[in-house]
Amino acid sequence: MRAADISDQLSTVLVTEEEIQRKLAELAARVDADYAGKDLLLVGVLKGAVMVMADFARSLQSDITMDWMAVSSYGAGTKSSGVVQIRKDLDTDLHGKHVLIVEDIIDSGLTLSWLLENFASRGAESIEVLALLRKPEAAKVKIDCKYVGFDIPNEFVVGYGLDYAERYRNLRDVAVLAPHVYA
Ligand code: PRP
Repeated sequence: MRAADISDQLSTVLVTEEEIQRKLAELAARVDADYAGKDLLLVGVLKGAVMVMADFARSLQSDITMDWMAVSSYGAGTKSSGVVQIRKDLDTDLHGKHVLIVEDIIDSGLTLSWLLENFASRGAESIEVLALLRKPEAAKVKIDCKYVGFDIPNEFVVGYGLDYAERYRNLRDVAVLAPHVYA
């Protein structure tokens, strides 16, 4: 589904499908070059990262491996408490691996901050982060993200994996959700 199909539910389109695909191709070329001759493990963080992982991984020219993790943040009130629970752990032993964490969005940064520390303790050889979207104004902790697609304003965005109450993940573009949908 495209933004135009549900324009009554969106206020602004921030990034179109075409812009996403162009950016992922650019990032893939950088990653191919940076990891030339190395075995790379992509780790996707469910569920939001499914779309970016699928398109980014296929944009690479290198043969990589892929694994998934499901985590959930919980605690007082909202999700971004920094307390993270593993719902599905990796199947892969990270010891000696070059790991690239693939995320749809860095919001407060708390999820990634926890994941980076957790992965470091598992003996990975290197750990970097690729995020399609980043909200600089929402940052609560600084994340060293080597591959960033787009910096976006601190608004409620959906699409390309990002949901509101599990909806809109299959929107091909990234857009700001119209307030009347969640008000
Ligand atoms: C989103 C996103 C990141 C996290 C970023 O996942 O995919 O993992 O939030 O937020 P943070 O920077 O504030 O920690 P979410 O918890 O919404 O789960 P989902 O991917 O299953 O939708």
